[in-house]
Amino acid sequence: MSALPERPIAVFDSGVGGLTVLHELLVSLPTEDYLYLGDTARFPYGDRGQAELRTFAIEIADHLLDQGAKLLVVACNALSSSALDALELHIGDRLDVIGVVKPATQLAVAGSRTGRIGVLATPATVASAAYERAVRDADAHVHLESVPCPDLAPIIQGGFPFDEDVVDTVRSYCAPLKAAGVDTVILGCTHYPLVAPLLQRVLGRGVTLVTSGAGVARSVERALAARNLLNPRQSEGDYRFQCSADVESFRALGTRFLQMPLGDVMHVEVASTVPA
Ligand code: DGL
Repeated sequence: MSALPERPIAVFDSGVGGLTVLHELLVSLPTEDYLYLGDTARFPYGDRGQAELRTFAIEIADHLLDQGAKLLVVACNALSSSALDALELHIGDRLDVIGVVKPATQLAVAGSRTGRIGVLATPATVASAAYERAVRDADAHVHLESVPCPDLAPIIQGGFPFDEDVVDTVRSYCAPLKAAGVDTVILGCTHYPLVAPLLQRVLGRGVTLVTSGAGVARSVERALAARNLLNPRQSEGDYRFQCSADVESFRALGTRFLQMPLGDVMHVEVASTVPA
């Protein structure tokens, strides 16, 4: 296996949502190699329970460690909310594990003028109350309005185009945030930045949308620098993709969302048990 700094950064999600985080990593750390895994066979994660999500996170982490990852990016809010502590415990100090909840919360809390912020997320993320805890830790006086959006990630993972029903669904998810008068909205699922234009239109110009990608990229850079693990090469790095269900549909959807060819997507089995 290659020397540690030359190994890939592993990024994972239930599907294509984590590509929004990978995009920011490619912008900020272009000389690194990346290995992206979408656990599409078990998508969606957003309606699963905490115990199951912890099992999934550990199974995926073990798979990515076997592939030689030098750092893990949990590019999924459902997993970051419910399984980050279990994952950190499992990994110990072998390598750094970076989640998406804290970076997004810090940006939102720092940027809000009114101290009233919202989060749109999957039911699993909302049920975990991870954003409530993160906001309280950042500033106990900031009010957070949380809205579960059970259908939004499946709509995005299913591909476009959108019809009127989808727009109505998005309107209904945004309505409580408009009623609460928030000035900042965290996109608390990594799939949602893929529909940022639609969300921005529904919420209006006065609302700032916050995603975790750029903050995650900064945390990754600091973590690698602290362990002397930044890739020393000067040229652009490499990237490869794996998923646990149909590779062709992953490649087609991912190529469109990431706006670059994914190349060959490898099929992998990460589940040690039959999906529920
Ligand atoms: N993209 C994932 C997240 O950030 C989950 C979507 C899903 O699998 O429900 O939560």
